[in-house]
Amino acid sequence: MIQDELLTELAQVKTPDEAEQVRIKYLGRKGIITNLAKETDFSQLSPEEKKNFGRELNQLKNFATEKIQETVNRFSVHGSEKTQIHRLLDLTVPGSSCSLGALHPISMVQMELEEIFEGMGFTVLDSPEAETEFNNFESINIPSDHPARDMQDTFWLQNEMVLRTHTSSNQVRALKRFGAPFRGIFPGRCFRYESIDPSHENTFYQCEGLMVDRHISVAHLIGVMKTLLSEVFRRDVKVRLRPGFFPFVEPGFELDLNCLFCGGSGCSTCGDGWIELIPCGLTHPKVLEFGGIDPNEFSGFAFGLGLTRLAMMKYGIRDIRYFNSGDVRFYEQFAPII
Ligand code: DAH
Repeated sequence: MIQDELLTELAQVKTPDEAEQVRIKYLGRKGIITNLAKETDFSQLSPEEKKNFGRELNQLKNFATEKIQETVNRFSVHGSEKTQIHRLLDLTVPGSSCSLGALHPISMVQMELEEIFEGMGFTVLDSPEAETEFNNFESINIPSDHPARDMQDTFWLQNEMVLRTHTSSNQVRALKRFGAPFRGIFPGRCFRYESIDPSHENTFYQCEGLMVDRHISVAHLIGVMKTLLSEVFRRDVKVRLRPGFFPFVEPGFELDLNCLFCGGSGCSTCGDGWIELIPCGLTHPKVLEFGGIDPNEFSGFAFGLGLTRLAMMKYGIRDIRYFNSGDVRFYEQFAPII
């Protein structure tokens, strides 16, 4: 059969030229199909037979033309693109989702704090997680025999450095480097030897703040803290100070936030209407001296904000262990919708 022979030949075609050769062989001036008409003695055929012959010949020509064209199309860019698109595009296949990831809730709170403090003229400073014993303890008035050292069980490194137990370790380094007046915050990761439970972690984030200038008083401290909290919680907040002891501040305070859930009447979140939030105080003269600043000329305040704690409050996260879980499903819940 001519059709079968044609198809077999077309299946072996590897270039457009070879396709053209096949076309000439079958449909050219002296081609196999063209010759069929020439070789037939029509005078021997009845009108009915002539008609059938003509029809079958036309069908054969059309078949050959179509198959040869399809073969040629395989080589043309458009033809192959079309077949590829048909192969690739199946509108019935369910889409595959692509995960964009999400900022960690602590990063989001940190970025927000940085913006608020920058608005109040504070510099944001990066700082090392492995510290000298001096910066972490001595320089902020915690000498080696001071009982405060016992309060903070600590990870020591083999080179006698320490994984900082708080971001207060940056106070003296910054004063030595920048002098006074100074306004800065130091957000970062801290480490303590803790057993882990829903409210304790060995790795957590703090944001230390320090402002040193002439005539700095408790009024400045309260003003900055109130501005900060009002912006974080997006409403006017009430705060109160209670006395608290920290060797590097005098006087030292615990700053409590009037409970945002119950308005101060007392509830299961706060207990008595107040939430203990930010330890702070006026910078101890010894710390200023360690930083090379004259305590008779300058005074300052410092605070140590628990970033992890703040993120827990802001987003209503009840278990601290989620933060270091590395589970993207947890992080994605807090990502802003872009
Ligand atoms: N460094 C203290 C801690 O981690 C927190 C702190 C308390 C920081 C009082 C301060 C401060 O700057 O004034 O427990």
